Amino acid sequence: MIIRRILFIAALCVAIPAAHATEFEDWLSRESSIARTKLLNNVSPAPRYPGDVVLKGAIIASPSDHDPDYYFVWTRDAALVANVILSMYERATDVAEKREYLKHVLDYAEFSLVNMKRASPAGPGEPKFHVNGEPFTGPWGRPQNDGPALRASLFMRLGQILLDAGYAQYFYQRIWPIIESDLRYVSEVWANANFDLWEEIKGDHFYTRMVQLHALQKGSEFVEPFNPGLAAWLKIQRDLLTVSIEEHFNLDEMRIIENINRVEGITKPSGLDAATILAVLHTKGLQRLAFSDEFLMNSAEAIERSFAALYPINSHRPDLGTAIGRYPEDHYYGGNPWFLTTLAFAEYYFEVGLEHLKQGREDRAREFLAKGDKFLYRVRTHMDQRNGSMSEQMRRDNGYMVSARDLTWSYAAWLTAAWSRENLTASLAVRK
Ligand code: NOJ
Ligand code: NOJ
Repeated sequence: MIIRRILFIAALCVAIPAAHATEFEDWLSRESSIARTKLLNNVSPAPRYPGDVVLKGAIIASPSDHDPDYYFVWTRDAALVANVILSMYERATDVAEKREYLKHVLDYAEFSLVNMKRASPAGPGEPKFHVNGEPFTGPWGRPQNDGPALRASLFMRLGQILLDAGYAQYFYQRIWPIIESDLRYVSEVWANANFDLWEEIKGDHFYTRMVQLHALQKGSEFVEPFNPGLAAWLKIQRDLLTVSIEEHFNLDEMRIIENINRVEGITKPSGLDAATILAVLHTKGLQRLAFSDEFLMNSAEAIERSFAALYPINSHRPDLGTAIGRYPEDHYYGGNPWFLTTLAFAEYYFEVGLEHLKQGREDRAREFLAKGDKFLYRVRTHMDQRNGSMSEQMRRDNGYMVSARDLTWSYAAWLTAAWSRENLTASLAVRK
């Protein structure tokens, strides 16, 4: 009887805020569950034909296997997506659900252990693998050194969860080898020119350096109890990298230049790139710079202005937030806005709002909540209206979806934006 009463009261507590939610918020929560399901559809997918070998833990970039062929495991995409699955694990309250999420990330560790053993053209900086764990060996922009950094940070986070739960032996055998290898690699190569996250420019990149700094910073603390010598080495490299990152700050224009010291690949005269915003979203906790840092805010504004003028869909519906692409000079699939970058702008402004709120500026926080929401309205307008799915891009002239369907990273970007919004609205509600 008592238990039934507790459950009844708990049900009421859940039901009340939902009853007050706006239509927009109802839609947000529906789309969040769609995003979760569609993201998980791309984890350990079923074989496509007899004899198709798909290792458990393969996290494909998209189910699309032609035009474009994204039926691969990119280390960057997979690490970002697995990180979101870990957040799903932490947020879930149902034990069976929690177990399922954790299992996916443990499977991804097994996948990583396999592909790390394979000889590949770029070693740990190899960007993508077949679902059977073999490296893709055709011509490609390699190495890409953001991947191992993102993976090291992911597995340190998982490692902490396992250690806290008393699974030390499992941790040493299956997770530690990945962390150690990735951290050693990052600490040895961070100063070398390599391909950016968009796989097009060889040089030095703010995004890559920030995720590397995050890995080295976390690594120097995490590794200390296991290997103090390695920790000391990581600290030295972290400090050197911190200085190098200063190179990206343009003091004349007071903004961040994404790619510098180019040695190969396309040119990007504008210096503008949404990757700069992704860099701070993918390194939360590093605190190298605040979300409301002037350089960053200026960069975000300049990026938005350039896309607002560039894409016809932005002038067709100026009431919606600006559809954001990768960078203005982009020609891939005609050069279009992307879901994951537009969602990143939503998340970015929610984080800026949270910062203002922490400093007591509630009005500013509400302004940034409204600003972030506009990007979500934009995304809502161009996603599939029947089933809530998101591809990689939306066409700049008419907003129809284009390129890889059901891009896993689009759903990951959706979820992290929705969680930041939740943090902001919950903190605002507490203050009321
Ligand atoms: C495929 C890459 O994944 C994409 O980022 C790039 O724009 C095109 N190749 C063109 O280089
Ligand atoms: C192309 C993007 O430019 C790159 O960042 C991504 O890793 C791959 N597509 C796979 O999604």
